[in-house]
Amino acid sequence: MPNGGPIAEHRHEKLSFPEGFLWGTSTAAHQVEGNNTHSDWWRWEKDHPDRVREPSGIAVDHYRRYEEDLNLAKGLHTNCYRFSIEWSRIIPHEGDIDRHELEHYGNVLRAARARGMKTMVTLHHFTNPQWLVDKGGWEWAGAPRAFGEFVRIIAEEYADLVDFWLTFNEPMVYVSQGYVMGVWPPGKVNYPLAYMVYRRLIAGHKEAYRILHEVGDRRRIPIRVGAANNLISLYAYRKHRIADKIFVWFMDKLWNHSFIDATRGYHDFMGINYYFHQRVSPGEKRLFGLMVDVKQEQRDMSDIGWEVYPTGLFDALLDVQGYGLPIYITENGIATKNDDRRARYIVAYVKELYHAIASGIDVRGYCYWSLLDNYEWEKGFGANFGLIGVEMPSQERSVKGSARVYGEIAKENGIPHELLRFIGHEAKL
Ligand code: FCB
Repeated sequence: MPNGGPIAEHRHEKLSFPEGFLWGTSTAAHQVEGNNTHSDWWRWEKDHPDRVREPSGIAVDHYRRYEEDLNLAKGLHTNCYRFSIEWSRIIPHEGDIDRHELEHYGNVLRAARARGMKTMVTLHHFTNPQWLVDKGGWEWAGAPRAFGEFVRIIAEEYADLVDFWLTFNEPMVYVSQGYVMGVWPPGKVNYPLAYMVYRRLIAGHKEAYRILHEVGDRRRIPIRVGAANNLISLYAYRKHRIADKIFVWFMDKLWNHSFIDATRGYHDFMGINYYFHQRVSPGEKRLFGLMVDVKQEQRDMSDIGWEVYPTGLFDALLDVQGYGLPIYITENGIATKNDDRRARYIVAYVKELYHAIASGIDVRGYCYWSLLDNYEWEKGFGANFGLIGVEMPSQERSVKGSARVYGEIAKENGIPHELLRFIGHEAKL
């Protein structure tokens, strides 16, 4: 156990993680399954071909190939699988429950369990049923209740098969992409509506939390509920400028904390998706355009322009440790066609987790995004986040070198010496 002990004690071996630490991978229904024909994203891809690089189509056919994919995940020694259940499959039309789809996700959960994995289920990962959107989507006052009805069906069906529940994936991203930037469905730029939707998501989260616990209590099944929050490691661009500092404070409150604060008491653990580090400064462009563009600084960044900054993960963890909840990294990863970079990225970011745990932060799991190369929303199939490559159109899977590196970390429950050398950290070992 690294907790409290000096790092030097672990010389010659590895950076060990606490026993029982979860090493997982993440996916989301729309990005991997294929043919989510009843979701709003499917419609968006058809109606706005100019706003997506390509449609999702059969994606990476995970709907049919989940057993093969879970075998690959098991081959990497991972002991946790995070995925999402597509609401529009379970309830394709209002009031109409598809038993066949319920059966399907039951099979996925059993397949993960049979391979020794804990299961982590996301109930809302950006997509909505078209029928819900026809009623106004999350602008509609009935949305939290409708979501609750879906959650009740899911809870009754799978309560004993799910280890961790995530209500929403990145509520702030959903609001900003859909209602502030207007780049994802419903493609609006409208601040009052953004705020209204944000309030509905808060209500939806609380409703889901209550329902999941109610079902768990009645059936005496332990239930753990959280949400996957996108956290940004924020810095003032000019540290002596008070305006910059105030702006950092404001952005941090708004982006990193407001949803969590508004749902306090409704989280059994904290889910964190970590990708972004930004130096921010007020006064230039519009609200979310205020982030200083990393490209102008010519820093190390992924294929899609996201800065590689491992210590930002440590910062994000420091930022939320005050909530006193166990923390799980529900997503972290890099889009790159250079797989050696991915391997180095994983070692460097996981090393930050080690330091966070050593400093006393209660981190209990890490899920790499993503198990598979997949459909990255408006960016289509061009962003390669996967540990497993997928050949198109054959859909053939290949285990990348980075997957083997991650697999070794999972197997060892720590970072072996050789892997640390690989990122240039020879000191003290
Ligand atoms: C996160 C999303 C996930 C994926 C990764 C790259 O914001 O939760 O679906 O798109 O980014």
